[in-house]
Formats: sequence, C-alpha cells, structure tokens
Amino acid sequence: MKNINILNGPQNVSAVIQGCMRMPDLSVNEAAKVISTAYDCGINFFDHATCYGENGAAETRFGEAFKLTGIKREDIFIQSKCGLCFDRNEFDWTKENILSSVDDSLRRLNTDHLDTLLLHRPDVLYDPEEVAEAFNILEKEGKVLYFGVSNLVPMQIELLKKYVKQPLLINQVQLSLEQSQLIDQALYMNNKTTEFSINRDGNALDYCRLNDITIQAWSPLQIGMFGGSFIDNPDYPKLNEALQRIADRENASKAAVAIAWILRHPAKMQAIIGTMNPDHIKDACKASEVSLSHHDWYDLYLSAGKYLP
Ligand SMILES: NC(=O)c1ccc[n+]([C@@H]2O[C@H](COP(=O)([O-])OP(=O)(O)OC[C@H]3O[C@@H](n4cnc5c(N)ncnc54)[C@H](OP(=O)(O)O)[C@@H]3O)[C@@H](O)[C@H]2O)c1
Repeated sequence: MKNINILNGPQNVSAVIQGCMRMPDLSVNEAAKVISTAYDCGINFFDHATCYGENGAAETRFGEAFKLTGIKREDIFIQSKCGLCFDRNEFDWTKENILSSVDDSLRRLNTDHLDTLLLHRPDVLYDPEEVAEAFNILEKEGKVLYFGVSNLVPMQIELLKKYVKQPLLINQVQLSLEQSQLIDQALYMNNKTTEFSINRDGNALDYCRLNDITIQAWSPLQIGMFGGSFIDNPDYPKLNEALQRIADRENASKAAVAIAWILRHPAKMQAIIGTMNPDHIKDACKASEVSLSHHDWYDLYLSAGKYLP
C-alpha cells in the first residue's frame, strides 16, 4: 500500500481509507474480519461519522470489533465526522453538538482520541466562533489531534479559517470516474454547450491544492450517492471495457483500476472505499500498485462518458 503524508498533519497514512459507513450491518466478528483484512492489506486509516447507523452503530461495532483484532491503537488512524443529525432532521455545528458528538464517538470507538475530526456537511445556521471554541476545547483536552471538513466549498472553508486557529487539513468530497464534477468543470471551462462546465464546487480541487488541504475522495466506485457500483454494470459498457483492458495489463481488478484513477491525480488524494466484503477490500487495495500512464488516465475519463472540448 502506498502511504501519503497529510500536509501539516498525520504522516504515513494509507492512500486507501477503509470507510465504515456500512459496518452497522455486520456482526462483531464480521467487522473484526473487515478491519483485519484492511489492515493486512496496508490500510491504516478508518473513516467514521456519528450518523453512520442508528445511534452511531458503525462506531459501536468498530469499537467492539477492534478489540478482537489484536491491532494496536497507535498503529491506526481513526477519523470521525460530526454535524449530520438525521435523527433530528437537521445539521448541527453548535459548540454543544460538536463537543457531545466527539464524546459519544470516543466512547463508542473505545478510544481516548480521534486522529482527525471532520465537520460533515455545512450547518447553514452555524456560528464560526462557536466552532472555534469547540475545536480549542477538543484540542486542549487531547480528544482530537487534527481537524478538517467534508463537502465544503472554498468560501465556506475561508469563513471557518477566519475564526478557527487549527489548520483545516482535509476536505472529504465525492469523486469517482462516474461522479467527476470536481475535475470536469476545469476541463470544460466556460463551455455553454455542456452541463460538464457547471461549476458546482467553487473550484474546490484547485483551492485545496493551493491551501495544502488533502482531498479524501468518498465513494470511488459508486453511481450517484447510492446508485450501486459502475463496476460490472451493463449501463457502463465502455467504461468497463477500458477498466478491464488496463486491469488485465496490470494484473488487478477493475475496481483497483478505478481507484487508481483517483490516486494517479497529482493532488495526492486518499480514496475511501466502503465495501465490507473482504475479497473486495483486497482487490481495492491493489489500486496502489496499479501504474496508470497519462494516456490511461484520459482514456478512463473519456470512457466514463466525457469528451475533450
Ligand atoms: N463525507 C461524506 O459525505 C460521505 C458520503 C458517503 C460515503 N462516505 C464515505 O465513503 C465510504 C465509501 O462509500 P461507498 O460504500 O458508497 O463507496 P464505494 O467504495 O464506492 O462502494 C460502492 C460499491 O462498490 C462496490 N464494490 C466495492 N469493491 C468492489 C469490487 N472489488 N468489485 C465490485 N464491486 C465493488 C461495493 O459493493 P460491495 O459492498 O458488494 O463490495 C459498493 O456497493 C463510506 O464508508 C464513508 O466512509 C462519505
């Protein structure tokens, strides 16, 4: 597994992250197998959120299962996110909610600190001074080592940065061959004949690179938000052909090639996989060994339904 350094933050973190959103459906033993398989494949970074499963069920299952694995806490990075409160039908970045969410996550994960805490989607009613106070307390108490955000556009990050003194090191956003808006708008810039030119994220990719913010790409194989995978999907024949061609050459799976497409980008991103299938985890981790040429990258991009303007 290729490791990267999160600039000004955790060093030697795996380029592939194991997402734990789907962990609530597993037994404790099955969850332990997922954690061990990921770790044995070189994954040392695990992504959570307070909203994954009812009452934080993903974090609870991980906390229970991790004990069975024999892996040392100091050998992995645990990340959680807070702010999405689906149980209350609201987003909540109040100081009170940030602090209580972290306490809940630590208890459920059975750990004394989070390596990284991300604010999930924006709470439009948030007060940045409250966020700053919460981050200061969490840092002072040693409950969170580093901070970041998820699904934020550059101006939202700028507003936070005006008040928060800790560097915001991560922006976790959706990116895949199928959901490539983060990249499309730059290529089709100002072209009124295509929707690909619509700037939906305020140039988040360039902004993050300029500001030393590591991008974590969520759902690298997913269609839309929860549309299933494009791998082996008959609705994506051209893309599957291109993935297979490179997979055969690289002795890897199509999933590994699709994830390698993200890792090949010079922004040095991490990719967050969500499968709970140990064989699929092993497949996905080979992404870091797949070597994609400049031409391969464009070939895959175009096979996913784009064209050169
Ligand atoms: N920040 C945010 O707003 C946000 C939002 C959503 C997700 N996330 C994070 O991103 C993580 C990943 O999300 P995800 O599960 O949607 O992403 P994903 O890794 O893109 O998984 C999508 C689908 O791909 C399939 N798949 C995986 N490996 C495969 C393989 N080798 N061959 C064929 N199919 C394969 C999986 O099926 P199987 O399950 O059958 O393997 C899964 O249904 C989550 O766990 C979470 O940590 C963050």
